Amino acid sequence: MTIELAQVDTIIAKHGADQRALISLLLDIQDQFYYLPQDALQRVAEQVGVPPVQVYQVARFYKAFSLKPRGKHLLTVCLGTACHVRGGDRLVDQLSRLLHVSAGETTADKLFTLQAVNCLGCCALGPVMVVDGTYYGKMSATKIDKVLDKYRNGKEIADDD
Ligand code: FES
Repeated sequence: MTIELAQVDTIIAKHGADQRALISLLLDIQDQFYYLPQDALQRVAEQVGVPPVQVYQVARFYKAFSLKPRGKHLLTVCLGTACHVRGGDRLVDQLSRLLHVSAGETTADKLFTLQAVNCLGCCALGPVMVVDGTYYGKMSATKIDKVLDKYRNGKEIADDD
């Protein structure tokens, strides 16, 4: 993917080309592109004056960062045992059908990336789906549309369930 390096330069200018601002820089770059493009990391290394390997180490260390292209919203469905027996796999199937992606893929409009994981540590709420860090417990096929609509309409902050 080719990116607009001017956008990266603007972010660097905002924070200053300072090694101490590295994490803030990477957070803003991820907000801009929804992941950390290789060209952007290279540009940061050049401008900040640190070895590229150091920038990659920071990018890999923090779970919040993604080095692979992903959508604006990250949908994570739990397929651990407790969630699986309560229908976690059906949630993944339904999301795959609705969004036309498989787990690990991003929608064509770059709005959603779907991923499946094993146990999110809140088994009593199963089946569990997490969107951008917000947990939705006791998910059902009928609730999925409602949750997706919130994110499609940019109302992801409000949760009236
Ligand atoms: S099995 Fe899903 S949260 Fe533990």
